[in-house]
Formats: sequence, C-alpha cells, structure tokens
Amino acid sequence: MSAAGAPLPAVSPLRLRIATDVTAPILQLQNVSVRFGGLSAVDQVSLELRQGERRAVIGPNGAGKTTLFNAITGVIRPSAGRVLLEGRDITRMPPNRRAYLGIGRTFQITNLFANLTVAENMRLALRGTSPSKFRLFAADRLTSEDAARLDAALETSRLAHRRQATVREMSYGEQRQLELAMALVLRPRLLLLDEPAAGLSAMERIYFAEIVKGLPKDLTMVLIEHDMDLALRLVDYVSVLNHGRLLVEADPDSIRANEAVQEVYLGKPHHARRA
Ligand SMILES: Nc1ncnc2c1ncn2[C@@H]1O[C@H](COP(=O)(O)OP(=O)(O)OP(=O)(O)O)[C@@H](O)[C@H]1O
Ligand SMILES: [Mg+2]
Repeated sequence: MSAAGAPLPAVSPLRLRIATDVTAPILQLQNVSVRFGGLSAVDQVSLELRQGERRAVIGPNGAGKTTLFNAITGVIRPSAGRVLLEGRDITRMPPNRRAYLGIGRTFQITNLFANLTVAENMRLALRGTSPSKFRLFAADRLTSEDAARLDAALETSRLAHRRQATVREMSYGEQRQLELAMALVLRPRLLLLDEPAAGLSAMERIYFAEIVKGLPKDLTMVLIEHDMDLALRLVDYVSVLNHGRLLVEADPDSIRANEAVQEVYLGKPHHARRA
C-alpha cells in the first residue's frame, strides 16, 4: 500500500483524537485574506475541498496562489478569515502542528540538501529536522514502520532505485520527484503541490504527470500549475485566482471554455518567465 494510502498507525492517537468531524470537507477557507502592506495578495477567498478531491489552483503570476498555500500550511497567518481542517479551526495553528494533522506540501523553489543522498534527504523529511542535527540520528535504525513509509513514498515517486544517489548528481526531474517523496513520507491526507513540474522538459512533464495521476486515490491534492493543459488533465475541479480573488471555480471543461479565464491568460506570457 502506498505511503499516503496506508491506514493510520497506532502511534498517532493525537491525530485521531483531533480529527473531530470526518463528515466536514477536508479543507475549508472562509473569506481568507492576506495583506502585505497595501497589497491584498489573497482577497476574501472562500473554497472547500472534499476528501479525495483533485483540485488545481491556476492564475497568472502574482495572482496569490503560493500565498494561499502559505495560509493553508500556516507559514503566513491570514489578515482575515478562517482556515478549517475537517471542521477544526486551524487558522492560528503553527505549521508543524498542521503537518502533524496531515497537511503536506512541496515548494515552488527547490528545497533539497544537495550533498546528501536520496535516502538521507528522506530521513530528514521523516524527522522534520535539519542537516545540522542529522548526525545525531544518522546511525539510528529506522523503525520498521518508518522504513515502510520511506519505501512506499519512494515507490510512489518512482525513485526506489535511486536511494543512494546524491541529489547533486540527479536530474532536475528526479529532484522534483524527491521533493514529492519527501512530502509523501509524512503520509499527508491533504497534499499541496506548488508548481511541481516547473522547469521540467516536455518529456519530464509527461512522466511527472503520470506520477501525480498515480497518487493514492484517498489523498486530497491541490496543484498549482502554470501549464493549464497539464493542470486540467490532472484534476476534477479548478479554482482560478486573479489579483488575489477567486475569479471562477468549475470543472476542467468549463474552465477551458470560460471567457473570463481566457481573458486573464490571453496576452500574458506567463510561461516566458520560466523559459
Ligand atoms: N512575503 C511577501 N511580502 C510582500 N509581498 C509578497 C510576499 N509574498 C508574496 N507577495 C506578493 O503577493 C502577490 C502574490 O504573490 P504569490 O507568490 O502568492 O503569487 P503566485 O500566484 O504564487 O505567483 P507565481 O505564479 O509567480 O508563483 C504578489 O504581488 C507578490 O509580490
Ligand atoms: Mg507562486
């Protein structure tokens, strides 16, 4: 069974106790705003995610997509509004507690330790620690449960054969796979992917899309992706942000046909920045 799809371990009583209302949507944003000085980076955004849903968040550069993720993960506190995880208000909860409750993410900017191997990076992710503390437990044996999680996350990310490779010697595509594996090893129930395919070649994108498609079915996933064609092929529902506001939410076909969405994208060379 995959990393995120396995049943909750006996060692997580806290998580079970805190997850109060399993009938509630896994995530709710209620009128969330994030202001930086005079700028409303996120402006009164309300949205809901069902358990197991695949959602894309799209929109031009600076639309507020990453800021929205930061409000969900707790890196940034909203200036207004509420964030609920399974009905529980987590608006003021620190990021590490949210991660413990099951929110995982990958970052828009690569976040790996280049001189360490795949296995070592995975162990850091598992322990939620930094390389400076790594030597304290480098010699420790992993518990069989941790080892199983690590194996499953590498398997899902198609990196099982690269365990001993050093990040520095891996292709960029493999590095992005490792970032995914590092998010999966904590077995999130809600996974936020911030442009996981950015900077990949066309071939690498196809491969990465297959990996994303193969994620456990019960894992709720939100994908930020500039390549609209790619994003719309991977999700069942789409939220379009523009200037911090929700412009429209709809299924992929309706989004493709939506004039307001076309207008937002038309004449905006948002791919050029990444070329
Ligand atoms: N820490 C910050 N301090 C001040 N302004 C910020 C901060 N983070 C983001 N912004 C601004 O908020 C707006 C939204 O930024 P954000 O990074 O969320 O956009 P995005 O949709 O992720 O864009 P991109 O597609 O380029 O990644 C931008 O105008 C950005 O400059
Ligand atoms: Mg961003």
